Amino acid sequence: MRRTFNGAPFLECIFEKRGYVHKSQLTLAGMVLLLAGSASFQAGAPAITPEMTKVAMSAGDSFEKLEKGRRLLATRCTTCHALEPVAKYTIQEWREIVCDMADRSGLKEEEQQEIQAYLNAARQAL
Ligand code: HEC
Repeated sequence: MRRTFNGAPFLECIFEKRGYVHKSQLTLAGMVLLLAGSASFQAGAPAITPEMTKVAMSAGDSFEKLEKGRRLLATRCTTCHALEPVAKYTIQEWREIVCDMADRSGLKEEEQQEIQAYLNAARQAL
């Protein structure tokens, strides 16, 4: 079944989780990235550009939502490992990853949506 990010019901997460397979060897890659420290921060959560804001606006998301998402990504998603570069995954892959990682990060649904909005805009504006 083909799904799009925009306007997709959030309950989909539960649905998507089932088919999501982990690449466990990335745990090691994550640890290595963790050592790289702040260098990976800019790559993982790049600053919001006008281009990203444009993408977000056309998806019905505000600059404020992106800013919140970026902050959440940089704080809540870095307690266990460093951030992966935005370019590494497609929007659909990010959706699945955020769905999965949201539980581990104790994110509220709204926060999860803010992170997703940020990643969506950052990925499309690349
Ligand atoms: C409680 C610890 C923890 C938190 C918090 C966490 N992660 Fe992870 N993450 C992991 C572990 C462990 C892995 C290694 C693969 C696995 O076990 O699923 C991983 C793997 C990943 C990967 C590599 C792809 C994969 O699934 O293997 C990405 C990308 C990722 N996390 C993104 C995030 C994002 C985005 C957030 C915030 C929403 C986040 N993580 C929060 C523990 C965490």
